[in-house]
Amino acid sequence: MKNFLAHKKVLLGVSASISAYKSLFLLRLLQQAEAEVKVILTPHAAKFIPPLNFELLSHQKVYCDLWQEGNYWSEHVHLANWADLFIIAPCTLNTLSKLANGICDNALLATWFACNATKVVALAMEENMYFNPITQRNLEILKATSTYILEPEDGELASGKIGKGRLAEPETILKKLNYIIAPKPLQGKKVLITAGPTQESIDPVRFISNHSSGKMGIALADTACMLGAEVTLILGPTPMRPNYSYKVYSVVSAEQMYKAVMENYIEQDILILCAAVADYKPLKYSENKIKKNHSQWELSLVKNPDILKALGAIKRPEQLLIGFALETEKGIENATQKLIEKNADMIILNYANYPNSGFSTDTNEVILIQKNIPPTPLPQEKKENVAYQILNYIVDLLN
Ligand code: C5P
Repeated sequence: MKNFLAHKKVLLGVSASISAYKSLFLLRLLQQAEAEVKVILTPHAAKFIPPLNFELLSHQKVYCDLWQEGNYWSEHVHLANWADLFIIAPCTLNTLSKLANGICDNALLATWFACNATKVVALAMEENMYFNPITQRNLEILKATSTYILEPEDGELASGKIGKGRLAEPETILKKLNYIIAPKPLQGKKVLITAGPTQESIDPVRFISNHSSGKMGIALADTACMLGAEVTLILGPTPMRPNYSYKVYSVVSAEQMYKAVMENYIEQDILILCAAVADYKPLKYSENKIKKNHSQWELSLVKNPDILKALGAIKRPEQLLIGFALETEKGIENATQKLIEKNADMIILNYANYPNSGFSTDTNEVILIQKNIPPTPLPQEKKENVAYQILNYIVDLLN
């Protein structure tokens, strides 16, 4: 998952819920994401978690009392101006109600109202409190003032009851903050991505496939989603799963992938074919397991549909079509030929035989091949960072 929180200045507000212990974990996760974090507690939250805990973990002064000795009168304004992102987690019903109604009687609230940064509340309260019509009305008020609401989760509540009300897990909150803070240059764009391998069945137990993990394609789909796109992922068989929720079609064979792409391509603005589609499939599928009666076995194969080529022949001029080329030799020559033959707007070349590149690795090293401009090599990086760079080039092509 591409990290957009690095070097961001984050204010972590904590109000008085039993779930306040989770905010210590959230603080750690934000720090691991290289965000700079300062903490503000409500006076009641300080009864659950002594401020010293946050002070020691954040290596920063913790703000709690508006009237604390040594505070100067406009400290809340300085903090508010410092922040890129203000998250209150947990946000109790009491704090939520005050936020929605302009009540400003502690340091956390004073800073909130002075702050123009991106604002998020992660709710924690009993189920009946959450569903109370006044709570729901207050949530509408906050949404209308551009506050992101991270809904409470279902599960065991502090009362012992099972229901909606648990503060979301710190990992979930971090993922959502990362999404919220990401720039959105693909807002309003529809992006279809193919990813993973395909499997071509020989008989009920055997198939032909390749070593593709789907990591590069899923990194592209996750990042496109974070950048604001409406993503459709056509995913071949892989245990890898997307980090964000978007439309996913799970397919097995090249034929199924072709069908899913053709059913979805028309409304797309950008088509990125990253899947390692098997080029051939068995001529005949055997309904029964083929016995190993012979010392040698010849398997006849036929060509699978070439999805990239098929799209190149029918795409509208304003649709961007991007293909991948995985090569072991003469990469630039082969990829340039593919660009022309398949009528693509860009081919992303990578090598199966480069160290830390290509299939299954967490990193990749790619060269962008486009018409009329020299090949553009990108540095070897984690696949999510490569995905981000590729998508930035695609954004440039759109403009
Ligand atoms: O010509 P080649 O198969 O090497 O081109 C690779 C590109 O074409 C990749 O983008 C891959 O996803 C796509 N492809 C395809 N249909 C195939 C084989 C590959 O769309 N049958």
